[in-house]
Amino acid sequence: MIGVEAFRIIGGRKLVGEIKVDGSKNSSLPIFMATLIEKGVYILKNVPNLRDIKTAIELLTSLGLRVENINEHTYRITNSGLTTLTAEYEIVKKMRASFLAMGGILAHAGKCKVSLPGGCNIGPRPVDLHLKGFETLGVKYKIDHGYVEATAKHGLRGGNIILDMPSVGATENIIMAATKANGTTIIENAAREPEIEDLCHFLNKMGAKIQGAGTSKITIEGVKKMTPCEHTIISDRVVAATYIVLSILFDGDIIVKGVDKEHLNGFLIKLEEMGLKYEISGNNMRILSNLNELSPINVKTMPHPGFPTDVQAPMMTLLSLIKGISEVNETIFENRFMHVPELNRMGAKIDINGDSATIIGVKELYSADVMASDLRAGAALILAALKAKGSTVVNRIYHVDRGYEAFDKKLKKLGADIERIKVEI
Ligand code: EPZ
Repeated sequence: MIGVEAFRIIGGRKLVGEIKVDGSKNSSLPIFMATLIEKGVYILKNVPNLRDIKTAIELLTSLGLRVENINEHTYRITNSGLTTLTAEYEIVKKMRASFLAMGGILAHAGKCKVSLPGGCNIGPRPVDLHLKGFETLGVKYKIDHGYVEATAKHGLRGGNIILDMPSVGATENIIMAATKANGTTIIENAAREPEIEDLCHFLNKMGAKIQGAGTSKITIEGVKKMTPCEHTIISDRVVAATYIVLSILFDGDIIVKGVDKEHLNGFLIKLEEMGLKYEISGNNMRILSNLNELSPINVKTMPHPGFPTDVQAPMMTLLSLIKGISEVNETIFENRFMHVPELNRMGAKIDINGDSATIIGVKELYSADVMASDLRAGAALILAALKAKGSTVVNRIYHVDRGYEAFDKKLKKLGADIERIKVEI
């Protein structure tokens, strides 16, 4: 038997106060991998303290970089050259984003050996678009015993790539590989997420020549050399959206600090469709509506700037408590409704039909023992548990620790009764 961490939450309490959004996990991870490209010293600020960041540090260290945490959210990364060009399965299996090391190592050395990322709970998540993009840049690869062995015999060259779908990771990986290619690369149908803009902002500060970040056509003019720099990571829009849902659930008694409105339009438009009133001054957001004033809506997850798939689960917790019938359509991942049976155990009324879920709003949720299946599902269950009277245990919160910094501590400050416990499994 081993003890696995869980949160025990006594819900139904009033929560009041302020909660601050930390730096973006999904911007930090590609930027960490981009430090593989050039030798020198990088300073990265506003990096969130998360399990996934620890995994990224483990990976960079295994490749020969030195990573120092010089204060709570600031890291100094020293690249004196890579001691190996192999990203081991042992580390890559922990976090799919480790595969983003491939673009960095290729730009640094023109060859690499990277473990294929495993699938994960929300779908098989192949990397075919990444590999097709690298081939266009002159990379030859073979897959052997779960590793991609790749070489650009004559160095990386610019090329024209049209992505079958706007994959975030493929866009990021190809951009990194193309920064020092010989010639110009054009990526069409590129992902438009703010994290890609942040990566390109960082790379351009290093001397890269990238245009069009944030649009579906990105042009990268290869350069001979870049220079490490300092960079402050953008705030985490998915954590912000999760905290905004938390505030709505508690009738706006919680101010959310560190919200970047520009990154949340696809989410905010849907909240406005529910009739939500709110005000944003600077980066602080205050909810002005009560939960019972809101109307049901239909939500369809889309690539940015549409409604983010990473906010689908927390949104479903909210819609479970909105009188009337709402629909949620998940178009990005094949299997991202695993929080539904867990929410139904807590009294929600959600029916799944393929990639759609129909939600009949209920007056209240009930405490029950539930299990997190991925980090966003875990967050959704924590939100539900905070509303459900009685004691709920959310199991496998290691998922949540991957993407939410000190969630239990922050909730305790708002008045929540939440304890991190060990459960024998
Ligand atoms: C990024 O994952 C995010 N992760 C995910 O956030 C996010 O859900 C996802 O983008 C979509 O927005 C990071 O940024 C570290 P994709 P990524 O490539 O890059 C398919 C979280 O909660 N696909 O845009 O892996 C894939 O199977 C995480 O923080 C291919 O078919 O997402 C998926 O169905 C979860 N072939 C869809 O595209 C490929 O080569 C979107 O994947 C690549 C992707």
